[in-house]
Amino acid sequence: MSIKDSKLITFPKIHDKRGNLTFIENIEHFQSKIARVYYIYDVPGGSVRGGHAHKENHEILISVAGSFDVVLGDGHQRKKYTLNRPYIGLYVPPLIWRELENFSSGSVCLVVASLVYDEKDYFRDYNEYLNEID
Ligand code: TYD
Repeated sequence: MSIKDSKLITFPKIHDKRGNLTFIENIEHFQSKIARVYYIYDVPGGSVRGGHAHKENHEILISVAGSFDVVLGDGHQRKKYTLNRPYIGLYVPPLIWRELENFSSGSVCLVVASLVYDEKDYFRDYNEYLNEID
């Protein structure tokens, strides 16, 4: 996998005078249906989250409130995305290292995942990750 396989996805935005609504249903990059949703919130200023890669799990990261940066790496290249729109998701394939940083006050990171949580699906050690992908 390369960071070139990561991409921003624009979800539908239904606008009316009562406010906006965005929905996420079938995701073409997931081989199966959505398996899990989790969210990260109340992040203290200066905290860095992530610091791992998945072996098989695909994810989509969305800033449903506020903003934060996502730094992706594939062992060769790095790319930084700023997420600050509730209708834009960042697709992160397996085997891509990610770090989430620069969270604004009150920001919420919603993550849609293709697999249920399994600690065995994680590379949490960067050197182990590099050895595996090379
Ligand atoms: P962690 O992977 O460190 O969060 P981040 O992606 O922000 O770095 O997860 C924090 C803790 O939450 C860790 O003990 C694993 C647990 N966890 C679950 O139990 N289920 C989940 O779906 C997730 C994403 C994490």
